[in-house]
Amino acid sequence: MKLVFATNNPHKLQEIKHLLNNSIELLCLSDIPCDDEIPENQETLEGNAAEKSFYIFDKYGLNCFADDTGLEIEALNGEPGVYSARYAGKERDSGKNMDLVLEKLSGTKNRKARFRTVISLIIDGHETQFEGIVDGEILEEKRGQTGFGYDPIFRPEESTSSFAEMTLEEKNKISHRGRAVQKLVEYLNHLKTD
Ligand code: IMP
Repeated sequence: MKLVFATNNPHKLQEIKHLLNNSIELLCLSDIPCDDEIPENQETLEGNAAEKSFYIFDKYGLNCFADDTGLEIEALNGEPGVYSARYAGKERDSGKNMDLVLEKLSGTKNRKARFRTVISLIIDGHETQFEGIVDGEILEEKRGQTGFGYDPIFRPEESTSSFAEMTLEEKNKISHRGRAVQKLVEYLNHLKTD
């Protein structure tokens, strides 16, 4: 089955291709081709994921899915949440976003945080959502070189390493997106046999 993933983020594509089996041909936006600025105007991860997937389905009539992820920090009342990409400004600079988080948490004992991903899948116009969560903490400083976004300052509770100190395989096994994608893949596999 052909399925469009509404992204051109090479990190995400690589992560998800690792998890999908061969029966699904994964296309990205540049394959359709689509270079639109896809709207993300909602105030929840659920709303943004659905807005993106319906945009693609309505315009191209293709089965597709879109994801939206946020880092939710307990001591910051769930910030940066849906604003994770542009927390320190609209230039979407990961370094500045992490610096802002570290500054806001400076002197704060409660470092609890979680990544949450919502995937909105549309098959023949019918939407289903999947959620993946990984609990952890915000480190005192950046650690590691791999991954992207907030990976250097996030340590999942299952590990002593930050996400940026893990290989892609290690991160995928426990990550928010990995967990949401595993649910998506199980669902897709059932669709084929029903
Ligand atoms: P998006 O909705 O998946 O584009 O994620 C929004 C923002 O959350 C990204 O720009 C990153 O800053 C951050 N983010 C998403 N996924 C991850 C991840 O796996 N590791 C670290 N940061 C992430």
